[in-house]
Amino acid sequence: MCTRPSALFRGSKRLESHARTSKIFDFVKELIRKRANSRKLKSMKTIVVASQKGGSGKTTLAAHLAVTIERRGCGPAVLIDLDPQATLSGWWNQREAETPACAAAQSLSGLPDKLAELAEAGFAWAVIDTPPAIGATNRVAIAAADLVVIPTRASPHDLNALGSTLDIVQEAAKPFVFVLNSAKPGTAIATQAVALLSEHGPVCPAVIGDRVMYASSMSDGRSIAELDPNGKGAAELEELLEFVKSRFPEFKKVKVKQYA
Ligand SMILES: Nc1ncnc2c1ncn2[C@@H]1O[C@H](COP(=O)(O)OP(=O)(O)OP(=O)(O)O)[C@@H](O)[C@H]1O
Ligand SMILES: [Mg+2]
Repeated sequence: MCTRPSALFRGSKRLESHARTSKIFDFVKELIRKRANSRKLKSMKTIVVASQKGGSGKTTLAAHLAVTIERRGCGPAVLIDLDPQATLSGWWNQREAETPACAAAQSLSGLPDKLAELAEAGFAWAVIDTPPAIGATNRVAIAAADLVVIPTRASPHDLNALGSTLDIVQEAAKPFVFVLNSAKPGTAIATQAVALLSEHGPVCPAVIGDRVMYASSMSDGRSIAELDPNGKGAAELEELLEFVKSRFPEFKKVKVKQYA
């Protein structure tokens, strides 16, 4: 009888095709998993606060931006302190509130993996503080950035020092914004600074005011919005966050077509 071999043949064919199908199935599953992971990675925004100029407000703005993200319900946010001065970690250690989180980057070369891990853990934003230098740390951080925030004070001295920071940001082809910090909005020096900055790149429409509260908030692990939730300073920080968000296409408001 020829039924058995042919049945066997048909059976083994079925087995073969079953094996093939399950291989394809595994392959597709793996592909879907990888795509889901890459979507997850893309869904965390990495903001690097950088400027070669010391005292421009990097640490202050990194801490305040992360707190504002949490306060506006856009978190979770995680801070990473890459500055050996460790001012940001010091502020965070003083902090009583649970959020934002703070993560240690074990090594500079491990930063991309650390960010992938944080994205996988579900963080929506990573805010990285950097040292006042142009070196390996800043280059690695900037390479990992989705957006570089460059704070500056309004003095000509501060503005002149921006060139080298801008060079490495542009070398890395990263989007960036300027934030005029510790200035008095409406004064001639602030207006001139904004005009000059806007010749070189996008400038945050909110000038971050010169407020003594920043010093006290930074020394006790809080943000100025926690000290004065309805104050002008808190409103400026919210405007800063909205501006940062507007640099990402997914946060851009969808324009509704008007039909006559
Ligand atoms: N908007 C502001 N108003 C008043 N004081 C401010 C403001 N921003 C920052 N400061 C103060 O300026 C000083 C320097 O700020 P900060 O430490 O954030 O700068 P930085 O760029 O991180 O400095 P470094 O380059 O040393 O890391 C701090 O004493 C801080 O409290
Ligand atoms: Mg600092």
